[in-house]
Amino acid sequence: MFQPSPWRADFPAIAALQRQHQTYLDSAATTQKPQHLLDALSHYYTQGAANVHRAQHLPGALATQAFEASREKVAAWLNAADAQQIVFTHGATSALNLLAYGLEWRLEAGDEIAVSALEHHANLLPWQQLAQRRGLRLVILPLDANGHIDLEAALQLIGPRTRVLAVSQLSNVLGTWQPLQPLLDHARAQGALSVVDGAQGVVHGRHDVQQLGCDFYVFSSHKLYGPDGLGVLYGRREALGLLRHWQFGGEMVQLAGYQQSSFRPAPLGFEAGTPPIASVIGLGASLDYLASLDATSVVEHEAALHRHLLRGLNDREGVRILGAPQLALASFVVEGVHNADLAHLLTEQGIAVRAGHHCAMPLVNSLGLDGAIRVSLALYNDSHDLERFFSALDQALELLR
Ligand SMILES: Cc1ncc(COP(=O)(O)O)c(C=O)c1O
Repeated sequence: MFQPSPWRADFPAIAALQRQHQTYLDSAATTQKPQHLLDALSHYYTQGAANVHRAQHLPGALATQAFEASREKVAAWLNAADAQQIVFTHGATSALNLLAYGLEWRLEAGDEIAVSALEHHANLLPWQQLAQRRGLRLVILPLDANGHIDLEAALQLIGPRTRVLAVSQLSNVLGTWQPLQPLLDHARAQGALSVVDGAQGVVHGRHDVQQLGCDFYVFSSHKLYGPDGLGVLYGRREALGLLRHWQFGGEMVQLAGYQQSSFRPAPLGFEAGTPPIASVIGLGASLDYLASLDATSVVEHEAALHRHLLRGLNDREGVRILGAPQLALASFVVEGVHNADLAHLLTEQGIAVRAGHHCAMPLVNSLGLDGAIRVSLALYNDSHDLERFFSALDQALELLR
């Protein structure tokens, strides 16, 4: 049965891509943007751009007002208690690097950082590099057969030496929700700080950082239908207070002297230099748009499409889905077919999916693979997109076998 997307027309790029005979199924990499966001960007750039927090003139005041209004919207989206707990960075990657640098002073040789075996490089390499700099032990939490962090094993591995637990909420390769709550509760009981990589999770449903009780939560605007070049770091007030400043320059300073300076607390103390102003304002507009949608319909639509995707993949001989994806995406390999060859033939037929290791090389390698194809969905996709994909897949497999 045809499953239309009631929101498809809100995303002008989808029609444009269709005119170019492209079916976009790579939203876990980045999303298309709603008209609402494009209007906000156009308004900002056509009505007068200005820098924020420094100019006393009218355009500067208006830009600052819109910028800070976005901070409030992000705080509301995550149910943070206070907008001052929201730091704007240049992406989730940059937020995670900020954390690894900001927390470095608290860690000493022999301390442990726990990450899971399925982390995106963005939530692995900053901790790995920190561990190498400080002589720390990087503990890798293993997975179960379905692609969840093995809770029993993880609870054993997170102990009194664990100073930081950094885990993804939703895997960008396996599409599995991780058992965050017991992990976070256990980490807190052990005195460890917790970092949630919400880059994929934040896009699906609403998540309440206070209820989760994490110390830090990180995501990228561009995956949440917002502009790129922008990330969000939420921190519990006390946890933000533990971070050492890491980038220095304009607007993050309290008092500057030739030999000594003092710095502002979060959020501005961690937003050195001119921030991505238009992107911040744009993210606010994207959140306004998302907040205007019927959340239940969105969840049902995404779940129905995902079931369709899994059914179609499972129906095809030789196709093996990685893990047991619960939402948003599925990665798969085909017996006897290299993922790069398959990706090439799908690309030729206008199917935009991702192939390779998905920036989670250790995970993909640990599955005995050098890559997989990933199909990822967003609220503008419909079942025709999936039918086009399946038909292209069948043709490609016929050629390759
Ligand atoms: C789970 C996860 N974490 C972090 C990132 C990094 O996000 P960005 O590249 O926007 O900084 C990604 C991007 O794919 C991701 O999927």
